[in-house]
Amino acid sequence: MQRQSIVTIIDLGTDKCVTLIAAITPETRELQVIGVSAVPSRGMRKSQIVDLEDVMNTITESLDAAERMAGCEVHSAMISISGTTIASQNSKGVVAVASPTQEITSEDVSRVLEAARAVSLPSAREIIHVIPRDFAVDSQQGIKDPVGMTGIRLESEAHIITAQTTSLKNLSKIVQDLGLQLDGFVFSGLASAEVMLSETEKELGVVLVDIGAGSTSVCAYVEGALTYSGVLPIGARHITQDIALGCRISLDSAEKVKLALSHDPGLNMRPNPGESKEEFKKRQKLEDMLDLQALGIDDSQEPLSKRTLLEGIMLPRMKEMFTLIEKDLQKQHVMTSVPAGLVLSGGGAETVGIVEVAKRTLNLPARVGKPVELKGLIDDIQKPSYATSIGLLIYAAKKHRSTPVKTSIDLSGIFKNVKLGTLPGKITHLVKSLLP
Ligand SMILES: Nc1ncnc2c1ncn2[C@@H]1O[C@H](COP(=O)(O)OP(=O)(O)OP(=O)(O)O)[C@@H](O)[C@H]1O
Ligand SMILES: [Mg+2]
Repeated sequence: MQRQSIVTIIDLGTDKCVTLIAAITPETRELQVIGVSAVPSRGMRKSQIVDLEDVMNTITESLDAAERMAGCEVHSAMISISGTTIASQNSKGVVAVASPTQEITSEDVSRVLEAARAVSLPSAREIIHVIPRDFAVDSQQGIKDPVGMTGIRLESEAHIITAQTTSLKNLSKIVQDLGLQLDGFVFSGLASAEVMLSETEKELGVVLVDIGAGSTSVCAYVEGALTYSGVLPIGARHITQDIALGCRISLDSAEKVKLALSHDPGLNMRPNPGESKEEFKKRQKLEDMLDLQALGIDDSQEPLSKRTLLEGIMLPRMKEMFTLIEKDLQKQHVMTSVPAGLVLSGGGAETVGIVEVAKRTLNLPARVGKPVELKGLIDDIQKPSYATSIGLLIYAAKKHRSTPVKTSIDLSGIFKNVKLGTLPGKITHLVKSLLP
């Protein structure tokens, strides 16, 4: 029998808390999902913890269910972090190449990354990711891997993602109180980008937009490098709230209405061949009323028109969301550098009409992403709302392979495009150089 190691991730969202447990077979480097659980979250608002005890109970419930399914006990886990606690900045590091032969070694690379890490942070913030963007050797810029090259001066640009210390402490406390060892925090937008974006899109310039229930995470890649990460405090739950307010129904009923519309073929009705305009309009009108009884909604005073819901309530809110995203990207000066457009993930990406709104508002291409395929118990998770969870698992698996990595430098940028277990020699040296 082959030996197996276990990795576990907890994706703590506003709407749901997902635990995934996967086995890694060291010989084959294969990742097999053996435990999956998603439970409704309590104690979260806008992707941030507002009630420690509720979150603790939520995670316990999610973890227990996944452990039962996997038939094993979890001792450590990697956890997602999101919300407006997240901020990002780009920084530069410069070092002199140490070797007398001027050949750049992995030690020089780790030194230059450490130098890039030395930024002044606002108080009560901590770095959670340092992602290499680009290297320059003497005056030659745009180098992805400088090891083995010759030069005097080595520069590195890095993308730094930070979070408020309080948020990190709250999460650490919960994980610790659950008796688990913390394998690390991963910004949920970054985790989603890991599994939703292709390398070609990143090279062209692309923006990952993860629309969760309580917030929207954004990661913009320009010329292959992560350039901006941020979180907007608006999510798909706002659409539900608008429906509840507009139709004077409960939030539960509004959620049912929203989900029903997302799967409703009637909204995309086209005239049949030979059908007159009048006939088509009549058929459209007949199809337009929501079947409230079939949805189990009994608190609506009036019949609900699908088109009015979509055009009067949902589309304006989605337009507002993408206008905010556009403003954010303009502020970061990336709007003109992302011709591959937007890739949407998160549960909100499944909202009816969202791709069209995204395209029209930002005047860029847009598509709903599809997470990379995993093996094992994956039927329920191969959808946009699980992008963060799957991305976290891939992160955890990569970290597991290179543990124990002493620094908190994020090697994902270096690992990109590298198949598990097939790291090239130069990179392996770099990883080894970071080991204690
Ligand atoms: N098929 C669907 N159609 C429309 N909306 C959907 C669909 N599936 C999920 N959603 C919406 O997506 C949201 C949940 O998304 P997701 O599971 O990504 O959130 P989360 O990760 O729990 O929250 P966050 O990341 O914001 O903290 C809910 O508002 C839900 O209504
Ligand atoms: Mg989420």
